[in-house]
Amino acid sequence: MTAVLILSLAFCLLGFLVILILLFLNITKYDGPPAGSPEGGVSVHVLVLGDLGRSPRMTYHALSIAKHGGKVNFTGYLETAPHPDVLSNANITITPLPTPRGRPKSIPFILFAPWKVLYQVYYLIHLLVFKLQPAQWILVQNPPSIPTLAVASLVCRLRNSRLIIDWHNYGWTILAGTRGANHPLVAISKLYECHLGRLGDLHLTVTHAMARQLRRPPYSVAQPMLTVHDRPAAIFQPITSPEARATTLQRVIPAPEAALVPRLLDGTMRLLVSSTSWTPDEDFSLLLDALVLYATTTTTSSATSATTPLLAVITGQGPQKELYLRKIAELTAAGRLPNVRIVTAFLPFADYAALLACADLGVCLHMSSSGVDLPMKVVDMFGAGLPVAAYSGYESFGELVREGENGRGFETAEELARVLGHLLSDGGRAELVRLRKGAFKEGRRRWDEEWNSKVGMVLGLVS
Ligand SMILES: *[C@@H]1O[C@H](CO)[C@@H](O)[C@H](O)[C@H]1NC(C)=O
Ligand SMILES: *[C@@H]1O[C@H](CO)[C@@H](O)[C@H](O)[C@H]1NC(C)=O
Repeated sequence: MTAVLILSLAFCLLGFLVILILLFLNITKYDGPPAGSPEGGVSVHVLVLGDLGRSPRMTYHALSIAKHGGKVNFTGYLETAPHPDVLSNANITITPLPTPRGRPKSIPFILFAPWKVLYQVYYLIHLLVFKLQPAQWILVQNPPSIPTLAVASLVCRLRNSRLIIDWHNYGWTILAGTRGANHPLVAISKLYECHLGRLGDLHLTVTHAMARQLRRPPYSVAQPMLTVHDRPAAIFQPITSPEARATTLQRVIPAPEAALVPRLLDGTMRLLVSSTSWTPDEDFSLLLDALVLYATTTTTSSATSATTPLLAVITGQGPQKELYLRKIAELTAAGRLPNVRIVTAFLPFADYAALLACADLGVCLHMSSSGVDLPMKVVDMFGAGLPVAAYSGYESFGELVREGENGRGFETAEELARVLGHLLSDGGRAELVRLRKGAFKEGRRRWDEEWNSKVGMVLGLVS
């Protein structure tokens, strides 16, 4: 197996070199802004080896650059519709990459992966070297790092562009999560990421913890580094008036539960929202176990005071959804979820944002594979003014959720059940109000502020 892998990789490399040697002489280099563009005109190729419509952070980078007069070629797959502001912005040109085919079931991953990489290398080189004009900067998202980091750093050397790596996470830790830590590709991809990661001219990270880690071995990145925290999109806004909350709840609560809306409005029932990808790396059973514990424990010593009734709306699509729906039905039938109603929903984005703004508490089960990234869904919950109970067992957690200020952390189902029992009981009302204020405050700082003062300054777009 390993021999096959090495051979395939060697083959990729060979193909790569042949393309380069054949066409080396034709390559134009970046030598300042093109004639006719404004003084100091900035041009950036924003590159993501993923679906542009589902790459919010790269979309915000592109929009921010364009807003300050920079010219952007935004490159990636066109699977879902890109952000409407991207489509309508005269300073952004979308240059689509062809989406590689999915792996046929008959071909093993270890054979398919190198071929897919070769395919991507070919199209990336074709686009970045021969189709696009040379840009002052190439901004690339990591991960995926294979083959984008290699291609982008090579193109920068060939075309005299400068490379910005935007570290969202590490490719190898995600791969270790899906393929197992001992898979041969995990070691290769770690080595690759650590070495090529050092070739950036500027690095952006999603957390301070990630920046600290990148400075140390095995990454040992030496170039300038800026932490640009994710911020909520404009669509996530708090709802403050009771009338607006009432009309919004009627609209977004799934139809079969519509009768519960009056109880949500008078506070005799609480609304909890969680979104999950229903994958093994987000342990939904943690929330389910906590809800069973919550439902079957009385909150105070007085036996008459049962737990506050709860409606839990779980959004998102994913592979394990059916499995858990059956489990929920079984638990409900067995009487183990008294006073707790769990429903799943798949809402349009705007309705999801509105649901967050109406809820009493958000729950986040994100377990960071690298330990140094942050869940975007908590960022969005704060944008909607919603406090959270979030899984806290990783280093960067405190950069977003501050215990007792805008949310509460937990690591086990028992801890989550205790947090829910307290915050949703009458005794926890005051604390929940305080957390809501904290969430509101955290959510008010938006992307422009974060980006302008950091990336905008370095690119010379903001003075
Ligand atoms: C595009 O760039 C120009 C400057 O070149 C700027 O005046 C304009 O506002 C930008 N357009 C958008 C939609 O951001
Ligand atoms: C790249 O973007 C620039 C400015 O937005 C545009 O003029 C140019 O046509 C784009 N290149 C390609 C190949 O689309």
